[in-house]
Amino acid sequence: MKIAIVGSGYVGLVTGACFAEVGIDVTCVDIDTAKIEKLKNGVSPIYEPGLDEMLKRNLERGRLSFTTDLSSCVNEMEVIFSAVGTPPDEDGSADLKYVLDVARTVGKYMSKHLIVVTKSTVPVGTAKKVRKAIQEELDKRGENLTFDVVSNPEFLKEGAAIEDFMRPDRIVVGVETDYAREVMTRLYRPFTLNNHPVIFMDVPSAEMTKYAANAMLATRISFMNDIANLCELVGANVNMVRKGIGSDTRIGNKFLYSGIGYGGSCFPKDVKALIKTGEENKYKLRIIQAVEDVNEDQKSVLFHKLEKYFKGNLSGLTITIWGLSFKPQTDDMREAPSIVLIEKLLKAGCKVKAYDPAAMEEAQHRIGNAIEYSKDPLDALLDADALLLVTEWIEFRFPNYKVMQKLMSKHVIFDGRNIYDPQEMKEAGFDYFCIGLSNEKL
Ligand SMILES: NC(=O)c1ccc[n+]([C@@H]2O[C@H](COP(=O)([O-])OP(=O)(O)OC[C@H]3O[C@@H](n4cnc5c(N)ncnc54)[C@H](O)[C@@H]3O)[C@@H](O)[C@H]2O)c1
Repeated sequence: MKIAIVGSGYVGLVTGACFAEVGIDVTCVDIDTAKIEKLKNGVSPIYEPGLDEMLKRNLERGRLSFTTDLSSCVNEMEVIFSAVGTPPDEDGSADLKYVLDVARTVGKYMSKHLIVVTKSTVPVGTAKKVRKAIQEELDKRGENLTFDVVSNPEFLKEGAAIEDFMRPDRIVVGVETDYAREVMTRLYRPFTLNNHPVIFMDVPSAEMTKYAANAMLATRISFMNDIANLCELVGANVNMVRKGIGSDTRIGNKFLYSGIGYGGSCFPKDVKALIKTGEENKYKLRIIQAVEDVNEDQKSVLFHKLEKYFKGNLSGLTITIWGLSFKPQTDDMREAPSIVLIEKLLKAGCKVKAYDPAAMEEAQHRIGNAIEYSKDPLDALLDADALLLVTEWIEFRFPNYKVMQKLMSKHVIFDGRNIYDPQEMKEAGFDYFCIGLSNEKL
């Protein structure tokens, strides 16, 4: 089977590489020429564990190719996946410009039946818009062709994207015809041999499932952050509370970690887009709005702790940040809480030094030279008045406390991800603050 994946970003590339890995003939398409040139040379434009090797392997085997020209390959395909970006519009709704551009190109050039699958996260009703855009192009040409529109939202996590795609918990597919259902079943069979289900449903339900899933996960994060903030006030320990509730099988132990708020390319924009869908339908999603509000506040929690510790005198301090990406194992900086924190620190007159194992280049694009980028975590600590742990990369888990103390001017750590043991930190001679633990010093 021959398929095209349009959009070679985090989702499109992983989807393309994984389909090629199981033997499907895949063409990845993107309008970004620099990205496609890199990919043709076997270089991944993004950091995603295992992706480089998989791209190279399938490029060499001839199962994966790259192009900037969708129009020239449309009719070689049986299925065309659209995995282009759906960034937030100014009003918070999902911007469907790229999705509809792809639909129009397909409509303009198709000359046989095609299945057009939307993998991007799109609001309910988008499939109808995609159908309309394709049909309008066919009508302009006087072509009388049939086509299928399918919704197949993606649930992969950056940092574990390949594992998630190869061994998904489930695959959600919204279809309108038996033919589309049969082709999608065939396509996904290699990924469902271990009984991972393909859940077929109507198209609007598939579109809504993706938003509901992300909103639920974001809710768990904001819920735990709310509880953590209260724990600090009443003298409880959120880490114990998490264990206590997570062991209840009705609750489960996933996504119960408190921290400095969620970020990334999905939760923030998808939560906003869902709120917008509610508004458009004259329904106020009160829980989801609260999730968003709690998250916005949570991004400033470390800054407030720092402010309190230094009694409001932050000007002139050197602050070190460990971790810039929105989570470990990715270079993705979209909506990263580190950006909000750094803005606040700079505004308060701090000098900021930062280190991240993968996101330094991306951070430089977004933040520029307002901060100093260090070549390793210890280098970043030289003369630091405080360390702020922002992203829980594995390499930060067990640092050499003695060396740290020699380098730092003051021995204080603000841990935004609760990765250190407070007792151990105290014994090592640090003033230590994390999220959701009461601490008389603050
Ligand atoms: N990143 C994630 O973890 C994740 C997970 C699940 C779902 N999603 C959803 O998947 C979609 C893609 O996300 P992403 O993170 O891969 O985005 P991305 O920004 O990394 O990649 C999108 C790519 O699409 C390309 N593009 C835009 N218009 C195009 C066009 N007309 N033709 C060809 N290429 C075009 C861009 O150049 C870019 O390379 C979004 O809707 C997102 O919400 C993302």
